Amino acid sequence: MIKNQPIMQLKDVSIVFEKRTGLFSKPTKIKAVNDVSLNINSGEIVALVGESGCGKTTLGKAIAGLLDPAEGQVFFNGIDVKKMNKKQFEEYRNGVQIVQQDSYAALNPARTIYQSLGEPLLHKKIVKDKKEAYERVCELLTTVELTPPEQFINKYPHQLSGGQRQRILMARAISLSPKLIVADEPVSMIDVSLRIAVLNLMARLNKTLGIAFVYITHDLATARYIAKNGKIVVMYLGELIEIGNVIEVIKDPKHPYLQALLSAVPIPNPWIAKQEKELPLKSLDMPSISNPPSGCRFNPRCIYATEKCEIEPPILRQFDNGLIACHNAEKIPKFVLPSIESVTVE
Ligand SMILES: Nc1ncnc2c1ncn2[C@@H]1O[C@H](COP(=O)(O)OP(=O)(O)O)[C@@H](O)[C@H]1O
Ligand SMILES: [Mg+2]
Repeated sequence: MIKNQPIMQLKDVSIVFEKRTGLFSKPTKIKAVNDVSLNINSGEIVALVGESGCGKTTLGKAIAGLLDPAEGQVFFNGIDVKKMNKKQFEEYRNGVQIVQQDSYAALNPARTIYQSLGEPLLHKKIVKDKKEAYERVCELLTTVELTPPEQFINKYPHQLSGGQRQRILMARAISLSPKLIVADEPVSMIDVSLRIAVLNLMARLNKTLGIAFVYITHDLATARYIAKNGKIVVMYLGELIEIGNVIEVIKDPKHPYLQALLSAVPIPNPWIAKQEKELPLKSLDMPSISNPPSGCRFNPRCIYATEKCEIEPPILRQFDNGLIACHNAEKIPKFVLPSIESVTVE
């Protein structure tokens, strides 16, 4: 597999939901993702971060082809998804898998692990008979470190822990030999002590099988942990506001929103935590995504906002080694968080 060749490309993608508040009311439109362009290279790990409600899951579903863009195009292996023939579309649907946050909801409670994992293999003719399906499921369980596999294969989802179910979802995702897995907050619902192990499993699947990952999270510490050499994509109110190498971006965040977000990270150092730190924000209130501010969507909260920011939406542009959507990037003081090295995975 050639690295640094985009496996997925989004070009000016917008996703719109229609929401009805009452039976007779007119539906309101929510643009949950606005004009997003993003490349995902084969074999890379991309951390997609942002606060709850900013559109991460919606974007993840658009990447996996589960939501249709209202505007823009999605390319897999350089081919526009809308223009694919049946075979190309099947390659895309198998090639991009999603692992959801809620592992219990993602698995059929009435089916054993063998049924959940083995039947799609038989149906898609990846294996020729039940015996081969059983062997393949055992192999998959071993790959995701559920060993010995015989101990898990005939169990039902409720008989497993959250961490084990998350591994089952990983096994199901890799069973179709994908090129990319979108992992949507895969560790947010499992026990803190088990999180690192699941993150390590993803890193290993990336390294040994060459699968690219989009790791969706609201937690910057795990983003940094998993994407070590990869890229971070920061989202705010449905838009991408900063992209760059994860280590560089967390050490030297350029966008005022990301600077504020990093200031809010709990610091496990009592000396620093004791200092009264004021958040570099004008307001703590997140505007509604159904009625976003004009100009730069961050402008009502930004301490550096100028008149231009209220009128003109900034485009994501090259700045230093990354991309940033901010009119005033050149003028914003460097942000230093001395203790970021000690930020631990919660
Ligand atoms: N199926 C849907 N119908 C209507 N609105 C939705 C739907 N899914 C998500 N939204 C809205 O889109 C916005 C982004 O949601 P989501 O992508 O789930 O954010 P995140 O994953 O970052 O928390 C939210 O305001 C949410 O309420
Ligand atoms: Mg989400």
